[in-house]
Formats: sequence, structure tokens, C-alpha cells
Amino acid sequence: MSDSFVSPLVEDLVTFRRLGHLAVDMAADYLETLRDRPVFVPMTPDERQALLTQDLSEEGIPPEELLVTIRDRLFTHPMGNGHPRFFGWVNSPPALPGILAEFLAATLNPSCAGGDHAAIYLEYSVIRWLMELIGFPQEKSMGLFVSGASMATLTCLAAARFWAAKEAGWNVRERGLQAQNPDLVLYLSEEGHGCIRKAAEMLGLGSNSLHLLPTDSTFRMDVTALRAAIQADRAAGRQPFCVAASAGTVNTGAIDPLSLLADMCAEESLWLHVDGAYGAFGKVDPQVAPLFEGFERAQSVAIDPHKWLSVPVECGCALVSDKHLLRETFSLVPPYLQLEEGKGFANLPWFSEYGFQQTRGFRALKVWMVLQTTGRQGLVQRIQHHNTLARQLASLIDAAPDFERVAPVTLSIVCFRYLPLERKGDEEGIEQMNRALVPLLQLAGEAFLTSTVLHGQFALRACILHDTTTSDDLRILLESVRHAAELSRKQEQ
Ligand SMILES: Cc1ncc(COP(=O)(O)O)c(C=O)c1O
Repeated sequence: MSDSFVSPLVEDLVTFRRLGHLAVDMAADYLETLRDRPVFVPMTPDERQALLTQDLSEEGIPPEELLVTIRDRLFTHPMGNGHPRFFGWVNSPPALPGILAEFLAATLNPSCAGGDHAAIYLEYSVIRWLMELIGFPQEKSMGLFVSGASMATLTCLAAARFWAAKEAGWNVRERGLQAQNPDLVLYLSEEGHGCIRKAAEMLGLGSNSLHLLPTDSTFRMDVTALRAAIQADRAAGRQPFCVAASAGTVNTGAIDPLSLLADMCAEESLWLHVDGAYGAFGKVDPQVAPLFEGFERAQSVAIDPHKWLSVPVECGCALVSDKHLLRETFSLVPPYLQLEEGKGFANLPWFSEYGFQQTRGFRALKVWMVLQTTGRQGLVQRIQHHNTLARQLASLIDAAPDFERVAPVTLSIVCFRYLPLERKGDEEGIEQMNRALVPLLQLAGEAFLTSTVLHGQFALRACILHDTTTSDDLRILLESVRHAAELSRKQEQ
């Protein structure tokens, strides 16, 4: 290598501008025509093979050609979540200002580990807004952006574990879980998200540390069962340390009785963690805000701007009420990172001392851009719009003779079953038909929904997160379910 080396990645800026405009046009063309296309377009075997087995180029390919490949081979087969009739899982469309912010954040490409540069100050502000929006206390707390709610949960529960050990007089960072200490117990309901279990496993607590509690008929944690479980575990010599509640379960959007749980955690000296990945921003809708009472007393909350805020993935956020404790849980500053306080690049505490990651992306910019574009009021309207649509869908289902709703609608998730007259009373047949229709509906491309199991019963599940979804789209969704059921009947014959 020598001075004659010319990097293929350093384009002249005239080309960069031209390609940038091409990319924006490509994105706009794609977004403009989205609604008129099927929600989901299955790939052909050849298309899958072509992507799976492509070779790395030897000489490099001009970016312009690569843009064409992206347009013709990738934009043709999206996941579907950009479409207003995508009702699957909890995957929102990308907010347009968020798309631009991703690009601009990459232009700066800072590491948001910490330091005295603009991105850090912006992240502090955006975290403060998020706390304020969901009613989390700000004064002594700390938050940071991570990849998603799974990572946020791991971060929060690491703090909970550190705290529990400290309370019991040992240091989990030094001794790990090797020492002979009583088993730590974490409580969650059977509707709690799988990432809590994964986090417990990764933290070395093991899934046996989880005490799974039943839910009531509205899919909320049974608090009486929780109280009994805590007593039984203590009597058995185990150490209850944390209750992981949900503010919007992934299945139905149920919100656990947070206020009662906060009382109980205070009485029992337990850490209250709330999984608000999907539902936390529901709190801005005045109609459901009272259900979140007690949220403000949680020791930690996991939230996901890449869900209801429509911030492009990935973007989760961990909030912990005791910033000193969070720092104690994670801080490790090797000599090469040490700075003299108040001098040079040193400034506000480094985010990397509050979480696992060292180099961190500038996720805050896309959240900032999305929130500043809508403003507080715009956000409230968006959330209300989605919740209203969910109640409308519930009414359509309740009024239809061939549908049955199977869970209350708290936020923007509706769970239901297709229940044709000829199958009434035939539980096995109903379940079979509902199971069979889901993939058929997805492949048909008119609408997209997914399924779940509630108290042992299979259910269709629609989650509304798209601002341009209309009442008509809801009707089309139900029609699509009927068509898919019809198709499955034909296939059966
Ligand atoms: C309630 C709930 N918690 C946690 C998660 C995990 O979030 P992520 O996929 O961002 O890691 C999800 C994802 O759907 C969720 O709905």
C-alpha cells in the first residue's frame, strides 16, 4: 500500500450527492406505492437461492448498480410492516423523519459511549423526554438507548440482580453466582414476555429462578397468587428479589395492576421492573392513562421506541430509577478510556458506564427527529388513533355473527377467532380452522396478521400501529380472514 492507494469507499462528493438523491427517490417511490401493493409477497425458490448464494465481488461493484439490486431484489420482498394492513406482531412502519435521521446519524457516525460532542447531549435530552412522556421519575434516574426491549430488559434485570445481591451483603460482579447464596426468585405472569426468561438465563439466574404466576380473565397478573408465591418462596429459603410486570403484554396489551404491584414490592422490598416495550407509550392516551398508575414507582422500565413510536429499528431503551446503582452495575473504565473530569473530551457521565456496550450508535437522533416532528400532541393523537381503531375492530368483531373476540381491548391489540356457524361448538374444528387460515391469509397479501395462544386457546391477533390504517382496512382484514378460511375449507376437501 502506498500513496497511490485509492479507497473504493471514498467517493467524490458529486457522486455521493447523485447517489443520495437516487436513494431518496428510490425510497420515496417505494413508500408511495406501498398501499397499492400486496402486504406480503412470497419469494420464489429462485429468488431465495439468488440471495442466499450470491458471491462476494472481487473487484467491487459500483454503488449505482447496488442500488438497482436493492430496488429490484429487496424492495420487492419486504417483511410487510410498512403496509397499513400489516397487523402482525409489534412491528411498526418506519416514521419518515426517522428514516432521514438514520442516514444523518450515519453521516456523523459518532460513538455515543460518551464524551463532549453533540450527540451525547441530545441523547440525555431525549431520554428525559421519554421519562416525562411515560411518567418515569427523572431526578435520580438514568436511561440509555439499546438495541431493543430484550437488551433493555437484560440491562434492567442486571441492575436488579446487582441490587439484590448488594442488599444481601455480597457483590455479584465480584463473585458472580458462584457463592453459596439463597436462590434469587423473579416473578412474572404467564403473559410476561420471553425476553425476561432469556435475560434471567443470561444473567446466570437460570429459568428455575422464574416463578410464573397465573393471570386473571383479563390476562393481568394475579396479585393474590403473587403474594402467596412470595411467602411460599421465602418459607422455602429462597430469596424473592424482583417482580417483572407488563404494561402492555405482547399477546393482548393487558396492563398488570401496577399500583398494587408497586405497593407489594415496597412492602416486600422487591425490585419492580415493568416491561413497557409495547405499551408504555399508551400512557399518553388519557382514556387509558389511569391503568398505568404505579408505573412511576417502578425501579426499572424497558421501553421500545422502535415499536409504537415508529422509530426505525433498532431502538430500545432501559430506564432505571437509581442512576448510581446502574453505574455500579456496569461501570468499568480501563486506563485507555480514563479522562480527567472537566478537561478536554470529558464531560457528562459516559453512557458506556451504565450499560454493557462500549461503542454505541447515535440512536437518539432518530427518536429526537420523530418526537420533535410530531410534538407531544401529535404523539397523543397517533396513540389515540391506534387505540380507537382497535376498539372499532373489536366492535366489528362483536357485531359479526362469524367472529368471536377472546380478550378485552386495552390498547391497540385485538384478539379474536373466526367462528363460522357450521363449526359452533366444535372446539377442535374451530382451532384447526383458525390455525390453518393464518398462513393462507399471510400469503394472500391482502392483510397480514399473526396468532397466539391465550389461556390455552389459539387466537388470531391484530396489532394496530400504523397511522394511515383506516376503518376500511379493518373491514378488509376481516374479509381476508373469511377468504382464508374459505380457502382452507377448500383445501380440506
Ligand atoms: C411486551 C414485549 N416485551 C418485550 C419485547 C421484546 O422487544 P424487542 O423485540 O425489541 O427485543 C416485545 C417484542 O415484541 C414485547 O412486545
